[in-house]
Amino acid sequence: MRFDVACTPDPRAAFTPRAPELWFEVGFGGGEHALALANANPGIGLIACEVFEQGLCSLLARLVPEGGEAETALPGNLRLWDDDARDLLRQMPDASVSRLFLMFPDPWPKSRHAKRRFVHPALLPELARVVKPGGIWRIASDDPTYQAWVGEVLAGQSLFAVPPPAITRPEGWPPTRYEAKALAAGRTPLYWEVTRRG
Ligand SMILES: C[S@@+](CC[C@H](N)C(=O)[O-])C[C@H]1O[C@@H](n2cnc3c(N)ncnc32)[C@H](O)[C@@H]1O
Repeated sequence: MRFDVACTPDPRAAFTPRAPELWFEVGFGGGEHALALANANPGIGLIACEVFEQGLCSLLARLVPEGGEAETALPGNLRLWDDDARDLLRQMPDASVSRLFLMFPDPWPKSRHAKRRFVHPALLPELARVVKPGGIWRIASDDPTYQAWVGEVLAGQSLFAVPPPAITRPEGWPPTRYEAKALAAGRTPLYWEVTRRG
């Protein structure tokens, strides 16, 4: 169920059956959000990326109970990418992604590490290239430095239409493990849903 790089020119062909629409999640952590999306939306193809090996193991453990490897059918609408999401996104065709998910990205709060942030002016044109006109990019963060940074970066571009962020998780957004930690610690996440301009 690893995304087959041979399919990058036509990524929807990586799913069985071929997916009519492609969604893409960056940094799925334990995988609960990716699995919820895949289960609730059987008609789409989701590529879920995570570099942290423990996260991948956690998602696979949810899918395949120990000892059940032989009997468990893996979702045909989910493909995993166990490497840097940016590398794969750079290979995706123009306007190939209908929905992009970035849930609680690593905030890299020190300014000298700002270039590592996923929301970054240097990456925006690439994201705008792969997200189709009218396509949606969801971003959530609980980190005040990152929240301010996202606000600033999004205010400085015209590729995506940016309504104000919500302060409670909008309906239809599955919860994530980091969100639960943030709420338990008394932090207030912000939730952006921005739309690729046509
Ligand atoms: C703070 S965690 C949030 C995990 C999950 N989205 C959640 O909300 O519970 C951020 C995750 O993104 C992953 N990550 C960071 N940069 C990445 C990249 N470029 N490609 C894929 N995964 C990445 C990290 O390994 C980490 O597991």
